[in-house]
Amino acid sequence: MPNPTLEASPLGDIEFWARPEDEREEFFRFLRDEHPVSFHPEPQVENFPRGPGYWAVVRHADVVHVSRHPELFCSGRGGSNIGDVPQEMAEYLGSIINMDDPRHRQLRNLVSHGFTPRELERLVDDVKRRAREVVDAVAPLGACDAVADIAAPLPLQIICDMVGVPPSMEQTVFEASNVILGFGDPEYVTGVHDLMGAFHTLHGLATELGQHRLREPTDDLTSVLMHAEVDGQRLTLGEFASFFILLVVAGNETTRTAISHGLWALHTHPDQKRLWMERYDELAQNAIEEIVRWATPVIHFRRTATRDTEIAGQPIAEGEKVVMWYNSANRDERAFDDPYRFDLTRFPNPHVAFGGGGPHFCLGANLARREMRVMFEELFRRLPDLEITEPPVMLRSGFIHGIKRMPCRFTPSAPERD
Ligand code: HEM
Repeated sequence: MPNPTLEASPLGDIEFWARPEDEREEFFRFLRDEHPVSFHPEPQVENFPRGPGYWAVVRHADVVHVSRHPELFCSGRGGSNIGDVPQEMAEYLGSIINMDDPRHRQLRNLVSHGFTPRELERLVDDVKRRAREVVDAVAPLGACDAVADIAAPLPLQIICDMVGVPPSMEQTVFEASNVILGFGDPEYVTGVHDLMGAFHTLHGLATELGQHRLREPTDDLTSVLMHAEVDGQRLTLGEFASFFILLVVAGNETTRTAISHGLWALHTHPDQKRLWMERYDELAQNAIEEIVRWATPVIHFRRTATRDTEIAGQPIAEGEKVVMWYNSANRDERAFDDPYRFDLTRFPNPHVAFGGGGPHFCLGANLARREMRVMFEELFRRLPDLEITEPPVMLRSGFIHGIKRMPCRFTPSAPERD
């Protein structure tokens, strides 16, 4: 790659995201060092007018600042993705992630108790059982796809269970999530119509489930949302469906991506794998945080300035867009010693892969951590010699740092099922 320049910013070019990791890192390092807050053109999206451009925030401290000042940088003016959509549409597509307080807080509070560490403790046996079943299904084979067969099923099944999606519909959720978060990759999305089709499918599923729970309540999150009242009013079916879609999509794809990157990083850093296998419990907490930092499954989110302000001395005008590049913040030399080293003992590890703090901080962070911890433990115990046999096939996306496929092999063994 020629020397990077701001004028030739590649961020809006989907081809940039298909280039080798080193080249992309070089560009973000250049921005961090020389242009910590810089203006970039927006990507062109089919059927949408090109937006006016945005400020890219690439240093850790600035991402944290933007995240923690929702009064200056809001989510409810055209959404939290780079392209603007009418606010009503943004709420249809993204629910609370595209809202501001007080509405954001009211809706988030309806389900947040289900994601507290104490509440998640109740799920642990279930997570363990499902992790065992995932490994049971592949153990006799000796080889499989580490993404589809190992990383994907656990987070998908757990979130589907939490919201009450029956197992027969899990594959539908999986495929629709791939489309919704795979925008930009021609394998999943050929145009905006595919995207809208996937939303439509999940909306239909949500509506059916929601109506059912209204008649026959259970203890799943769908029931909670359908029966809850905010300011004396129930959510409309449309509001519920949007929230449901956010939960199922955010709850499966990101954690799948983190587990997949973890498997690849452990394969390419065998010393780290050995260390963790020898001292699993002792290192698990730090190791999970390092895998999530290393992976940074969500590459960016956007905010909109609510008034004239500044970031690191750069004036930002009211209404301008600000994009937080989590991938860059998580490699910021100002926040991490030797940020390009994969170090499972890293501590402290103030990564921003779950967001930089503030009201939108990932609702499912504790769930994701728990799922990862259980899954790696099960894999180390049952498939200790698992190795990746070909480099990962990456998702073509500037939004999700996804891995689509990654073949692996291991010594076959019998399932442990009773
Ligand atoms: C390793 C896995 C995960 C990563 C890296 C991740 C990352 C993120 C990020 C970056 C945000 C935005 C934070 C912000 O704007 O400040 C977010 C929000 C969110 N995440 Fe996650 N996430 C993960 C797993 C999950 C899981 C398992 C769920 C389960 C439902 C989930 C549900 C959500 C929801 C509902 C929001 C919106 C919160 C709000 O707007 O108040 N995430 N996540």
